[in-house]
Amino acid sequence: MALDKTYKLVPGTTIFDSEQSAKGYHLNQFCMSLMTAENRAAYLADERAYLDAWPLREEQRRALLDRDLNAAMREGGNIYFLAKWGATLGFSFQQMAGSMTGMTEEEYRAMMVGGGRSVEGNRIDHAVLEAAHAPGAAAGHAAITGAVFTSHVPAIGAALDHGKTEEPYWRPVFEGYEYAKAWERENVPDVVFLVYNDHASAFDQSLVPTFVLGTGTSYPVADEGYGPRPVPDVEGDPDLAAHIAHSLIRDDFDLTLANEMAVDHGLTVPLSLMFGDVEKWPCRIIPFHVNVVQYPVPSGARCFALGRALRKAIESYDRPLKVQVWGTGGMSHQLQGPRAGLINREWDNAFLDRLVEDPAGLARVPHLEYVEEAGSEGIELVMWLIARGALSDVDGSGEVEVKHRFYHVPASNTAVGHLILENRPRAEEPAVKE
Ligand code: DHB
Ligand code: FE
Repeated sequence: MALDKTYKLVPGTTIFDSEQSAKGYHLNQFCMSLMTAENRAAYLADERAYLDAWPLREEQRRALLDRDLNAAMREGGNIYFLAKWGATLGFSFQQMAGSMTGMTEEEYRAMMVGGGRSVEGNRIDHAVLEAAHAPGAAAGHAAITGAVFTSHVPAIGAALDHGKTEEPYWRPVFEGYEYAKAWERENVPDVVFLVYNDHASAFDQSLVPTFVLGTGTSYPVADEGYGPRPVPDVEGDPDLAAHIAHSLIRDDFDLTLANEMAVDHGLTVPLSLMFGDVEKWPCRIIPFHVNVVQYPVPSGARCFALGRALRKAIESYDRPLKVQVWGTGGMSHQLQGPRAGLINREWDNAFLDRLVEDPAGLARVPHLEYVEEAGSEGIELVMWLIARGALSDVDGSGEVEVKHRFYHVPASNTAVGHLILENRPRAEEPAVKE
């Protein structure tokens, strides 16, 4: 099922959606550069030279040089960004809006004084609407083939990067991931939707978004204070991510979208554990950050509901892609205060049991229990419920099989937990013989 983009049919109107945003990315970022007096002076001194320094398409440069805002909109420009360009040239919003209507400045102003443009004659044409909603041919669609759950301790990355995997301390940890690497080689996905939390790397205290969906084409590896890990950059899937953004936001999950974002150990350590030491990650990755750093953090129930909506989003994508959803972080750990080093094997293993058998019940566990029983940073485990909610046994349309389960204490301050669940459509009931 294609997403509903009926808004495109409103006459004389361009809706700034992910498609337009991708098209106009550099044009709009150029506009933002005009928010300093120094850059405005440089632009006004030599427009052509200033524009040439930006990676714009020629159509975009032409639109600005010709003061043709309709062309700028077609090229992905957004009016709030373009307003910075307009202000630099001395244009008001009224002058800019009026310039797109084919009227003179005086005519437009007079129309506004007279009460503005009437909506009569400016609604969607019914014939166009009906044609747009005619059923199309059914295409193949994306499927969630499995979920992976794993801790993402940074020291695991350091052990890998510094050749320590055979040391007695680390050996048992990496042995627990031998099956995972073989399973991934046999089940290479096209895309991994990777749920993790940024640890004050991409987001600092200036911005605290709850859910961030990566809609970019690629993501650099963050420098967390010891240099970026020597692993490949992450290639995104902006098209699928835009589809997921549209579907989830329509389902009332208020996401933040990130076109540019560095990714930290929360994302790269699971990739190393599952895919090993590679030149290039074997698939595209859509990063999904959940705030578990500053309270209030989202509840397990909210994460589980988001996972359910995520499955609907992914499975309505009109391309036959194999998608895995990964939930990372946890298990029990506390990195601060006199209670640091807290580990709760019993609680962790009950969590793993319930994650498989009773995810809806597990989703009702309150924050306080995570903090009290699994340590202050054990709250990372709520992210596993997003990946679990995305599997199709949750609504009864499919079934899951546990392929691998592993638990080990410790890796640095943390209990390592790891689970692989395969997901497939429910087997057909055998036909009843007459
Ligand atoms: C550790 C674990 C984490 O999940 C993390 O984000 C940082 C540190 C640790 O055990 O050292
Ligand atoms: Fe963490």
